[in-house]
Amino acid sequence: MNIIVTGIQPTGSGSPHMGNYLGAIKSIPKLIKSSEAYVMVADVHATTVDFEPSELKKSSLLTAASLIAAGVPDDIIFKQSCVPQHYELAIYLSHLASVGQMERMTQYKDKSEEKGVGFGLLSYPILMAADILSYNATTVPAGIDQHQHVQLAADLARKLNNKIGEDYLNIPKPKFTKNPKIMDILNPDKKMSKSSANQNGVLYLTDTIDIAVNKIKRATTDSKPYFTDGFDDQSDAIKNLIVIISELMEITTDDVCIQLQGKRYSDLKNMLISAYSEHIIPIKEQIDYMMNNNQSYINECIDAGSERAEKTSNSNVKIIRNKLGLGL
Ligand code: ADP
Ligand code: TRP
Repeated sequence: MNIIVTGIQPTGSGSPHMGNYLGAIKSIPKLIKSSEAYVMVADVHATTVDFEPSELKKSSLLTAASLIAAGVPDDIIFKQSCVPQHYELAIYLSHLASVGQMERMTQYKDKSEEKGVGFGLLSYPILMAADILSYNATTVPAGIDQHQHVQLAADLARKLNNKIGEDYLNIPKPKFTKNPKIMDILNPDKKMSKSSANQNGVLYLTDTIDIAVNKIKRATTDSKPYFTDGFDDQSDAIKNLIVIISELMEITTDDVCIQLQGKRYSDLKNMLISAYSEHIIPIKEQIDYMMNNNQSYINECIDAGSERAEKTSNSNVKIIRNKLGLGL
């Protein structure tokens, strides 16, 4: 049986961006058919960076609403903080991890030079491994930036199996989409991220059409007057816009290039605007509807989903606790 686990952090306003959507969320509904699946709002992870407690519940609600509006079945969504078994398993896993291994995590290395960096930045991949292993997951849909973290989860699963002398845990594998790294539309050398300093390069599911159009109009393009050639000959900035269009419209990048031959770069942007309004604006409207009129429905989904997730993770973590010689 395929067991799928994935998560998204409710950082910022809680709205996913185009990278989260195309890199992870959009693939979930198709992937989970005939699998057992758990999709979490990873709110505890969001506390590893500076956060505002009075805002966190609302941003978590918005992330959950976005997942539902994007087509993730409402009965598999839950909130990480509602399932404390993750923390228990994280402690056991942390005792199997080495300090050197944790310090080699790219995300930690990238940020560890910053002043006053929190311990959570070093330890959070272990909590993520516990998020995955407490459901005995086989498959983790995620963007390429999570590859190393899923590898750590696989490594810790092997170490735990070794310790208990049996292959109890599955070894989880990442599942990437065709384009697992969507870049910032203003600074195409950086991945699109909620924490980008200049938010004009980040397209959010909750952006109004006016805001999205403004961002798209400012997107970096080429200095050439007309669009020519195929996908492979384009600059990184143009490739990224083409990839977003092709993913939204579900056509190939070659098809996008064919449609744009001899046209201006403003036509490329107009094509993106039209794909955006056709495919993302209906999702935004649904998110707005739920947030304005039906927050109780989102809360009920989180409640029921968390109860279901707790049942599975409780039974797994109990077995692991016993196999480690702990508990009654
Ligand atoms: P962010 O890095 O913007 O805070 P999250 O950490 O919440 O986003 O990521 C949630 C999911 O979205 C993860 O599976 C992650 O790999 C994926 N993801 C994040 N940014 C991108 C991107 N630019 N392109 C593709 N996938 C991404
Ligand atoms: N750490 C992931 C991110 O930053 C989000 C996440 C939390 C996750 N728990 C997970 C992803 C479990 C996959 C599986 O994007």
